[in-house]
Amino acid sequence: MSTLFTNGTVVTASDTYRADVLVKGEQIAAVRRDLPRDGARIVDAAGRYLLPGGVDNHTHLDMPFGGTTSADDFYTGHVAAAFGGTTTHIDFVIQAKGSGLRDALDTWHAKARGKAVIDYGFHLAITDLTPAVMNEIAQLPEWGVTSAKVFMAYKGALQVDDTTLFNVLKRTGPAGILLMVHAENGDAIDILIKEAVAAGNLSPKYHALTRPPELEAEATNRAIALAAVAGAPLYVVHVSCDLALQHVRAAQQRGNRVWAETCVQYFFFTVDDLARPGFEGAKYVCSPPFRTPRDHEALWGGVRDGSLAVVATDHCPFNFATQKSLGRDNFAQIPNGIPAIEDRIKVLHEAGVRGGRIALNRFVELTATNPAKLFGLYPRKGTIAVGSDADLVLFNPTAEQTISAKTHHMRIDYNLFEGMRVRGAPEAVWIRGRQVTDGDRFVGEQGSGQYLHRARFAH
Ligand code: URP
Ligand code: ZN
Ligand code: ZN
Repeated sequence: MSTLFTNGTVVTASDTYRADVLVKGEQIAAVRRDLPRDGARIVDAAGRYLLPGGVDNHTHLDMPFGGTTSADDFYTGHVAAAFGGTTTHIDFVIQAKGSGLRDALDTWHAKARGKAVIDYGFHLAITDLTPAVMNEIAQLPEWGVTSAKVFMAYKGALQVDDTTLFNVLKRTGPAGILLMVHAENGDAIDILIKEAVAAGNLSPKYHALTRPPELEAEATNRAIALAAVAGAPLYVVHVSCDLALQHVRAAQQRGNRVWAETCVQYFFFTVDDLARPGFEGAKYVCSPPFRTPRDHEALWGGVRDGSLAVVATDHCPFNFATQKSLGRDNFAQIPNGIPAIEDRIKVLHEAGVRGGRIALNRFVELTATNPAKLFGLYPRKGTIAVGSDADLVLFNPTAEQTISAKTHHMRIDYNLFEGMRVRGAPEAVWIRGRQVTDGDRFVGEQGSGQYLHRARFAH
């Protein structure tokens, strides 16, 4: 059975043009004007954009963290992603201390099996670099995993030291693996947290005050230097502030192989949100923390000049009533993370494209094409072209919505963007030629999402 999308406006990272799109089976078979109907199912796309399905390369579904587990699993998170126009994501497998990388990957495959609705891949977060694990790194690409990660923060939990970071870089580079870093100086943050707690400064805003931008910038610069000496490519996740971005930009100008992302929430919120009355600020606790309006402007500058290549989400949701509440008496116990997988495309379109900050094509590049390219999925994912997977978003640029926890699909009791009015929203979504959302209805099938075996990093 084939499907013909007629009279839509196709938007890719490079072009915006009127065309029909023919889908045969799971792939795009033709893109041009006035394609013959030939008995295909017709989808009238007039007045709509046809966008490539979004690629969110930074998510944490069903992840044990901060004494609890992130609230969306590979079904609820995928349904929410699909409604939001994201058809592919790459989730972080976390190595349990004392066990191997293959075991960790198997654990995450089991989480996704039978639940997945959108297509997915995995990065491997290394937390315990034993000699056996050092040898396993080169095998990751055989398992379809071509990116790894280390955390330079979360002391006593996920954090690794510089010896580990440097040793990992020495192995990921030659193996065609892109190393991602959570760049914050966890040792200094740990001291600041202990001082704040000892002084009785326990409310959510101290989460932000104990993680100053200088400590993100220092770790970013350190990771860049170690990657340069190791001769390995580096990807800095969730850049939140101007100081860290300046290091990324300077390294890129020197010709270093360094790429960086920000996450959509870092354009919107500030430390003032963590200081909201009562315990409300806990909803905004994530790491790195929200910064200042000046940093927002710097990040917009970064997505415009290319120093930031990707806008992801770091979707890591915790319910306010039952999970964020673990830190009601002490900010250091609030699980770190926010929900965003469903809202990324809409709010970036609203503030970025409609707000006149980025072009429509750049929006597609940041949310789909660049993540697909950097993480070994392009051109199968991330664009609309003959031979690409038919992951298509019928996006209505005039549809008006008010974002709310009352209507979202994420399994969580609040929405970070509650009350925000947007103009422009996905109306229907297809993954590999199969429709998964139709207006407010989910029409996909649990278990139909596929694991993506990704190509080695080749930039
Ligand atoms: O607060 C955050 N970002 N939680 C998820 C884990 C991480 O650091 O990415
Ligand atoms: Zn992180
Ligand atoms: Zn993360």
